[in-house]
Amino acid sequence: MAGCFGELFLYMSIAFKNIFKSKEVVAFDIGSSSIKLVQMSSTKGGWELKKLGYCQLPPEAIVDGSIIDSMTVTSTLSDMLAEHGVKAKDAVTSLSGHSVIIKKVNMAAMTEEELAESIQWEAEQYIPFPMTDVNIDFQILGEDTEGRGQMDVMLVAVKKDVINDYTNALKESGLNPVVVDVDSFALENMMEINFALSPDENIVMVNIGASITSISVIAGGLTVFTRSIPMGGNQYTEEVQRRFNVNYKDAEAAKRGEDIDGVDPVELKSVIDTVSMNLTVEIKRSMDFFLAGSIDMFISKIVLSGGGAKTMGLSDMLKERAALDVELANPFGGIECDPKTFDPEYLKEMAPFFSVGVGLGTRRLGD
Ligand SMILES: Nc1ncnc2c1ncn2[C@@H]1O[C@H](COP(=O)(O)OP(=O)(O)OP(=O)(O)O)[C@@H](O)[C@H]1O
Ligand SMILES: [Mg+2]
Repeated sequence: MAGCFGELFLYMSIAFKNIFKSKEVVAFDIGSSSIKLVQMSSTKGGWELKKLGYCQLPPEAIVDGSIIDSMTVTSTLSDMLAEHGVKAKDAVTSLSGHSVIIKKVNMAAMTEEELAESIQWEAEQYIPFPMTDVNIDFQILGEDTEGRGQMDVMLVAVKKDVINDYTNALKESGLNPVVVDVDSFALENMMEINFALSPDENIVMVNIGASITSISVIAGGLTVFTRSIPMGGNQYTEEVQRRFNVNYKDAEAAKRGEDIDGVDPVELKSVIDTVSMNLTVEIKRSMDFFLAGSIDMFISKIVLSGGGAKTMGLSDMLKERAALDVELANPFGGIECDPKTFDPEYLKEMAPFFSVGVGLGTRRLGD
């Protein structure tokens, strides 16, 4: 299971009786362009999809990872719960972007218990915020190979006010937020349940959302590097709006391949390719930064997810620039999905959007 991230983010005010009564958990990936609902149950062999929901948000509801219009977010969550007949009360969600700081640090070897005791003090040196403003979590990645009594640790700090904004939205929809995860770790979980990750396979995960692109490296089954770029699908939409002088809705439709009056397809392709070029340069830069600090590390492939992964020509451009295989994540590939309930065509179409949500759907209190 991907780390213990989330445990320390545990919302402490949850009524105890609720924790033990309700085993069902509903996962909400609250993105800046849409909310994704996933409910899964564990089976003998793995996981089964129970509920799936998707609802778009107006562009001003969440901006750069901050909830601006909490009423809209809360009412969308409530509507989705009602529409899908969700009975679960416990909820998990995740954050990404600038409110999350993830750092790999090297420190004197100690046990998990010892580190849990001293984490506030240890983290202070690495986190550029007052410790009172953040929740801290960590995962020990293992002793370093030189055996000098040092160990690598992944430190995670998340701004408390941002956690509160997201957990409040869930609470106001009648839910008990039990885990607040981080997108990259949810993606690791998603990969874990879908593929038998080989210990010597190193995969770059690239989740292209509307406003944030998260890049992470999974090595030996653990996330060892993460970075986020404040770019995503919005850059394409804005550029199309600007170039063709069309509104947001038409620009969104045009970039998804719909015919829009006044948008010339040849010029559109050049606009899209220009943004893709900027994005691939940034992705490659992050990969190079990771590789520069990881001697003898090779990457086997890139797995793309997020709605932005559907951008025409982007996958091929990244493949060429990074000289690596690029795959589209299929979060439903390794889980049971009853075709009578979930149309396989719909699942295929929506797969990129649900990569974080499916990973979150495996999270349970105290994982
Ligand atoms: N067919 C398509 N072609 C290109 N872009 C697409 C397509 N479908 C969706 N997108 C883009 O994908 C983005 C939404 O993806 P996603 O749902 O993963 O983002 P999000 O989770 O809401 O955002 P974030 O994680 O950045 O807060 C939007 O910018 C949308 O325009
Ligand atoms: Mg997202």
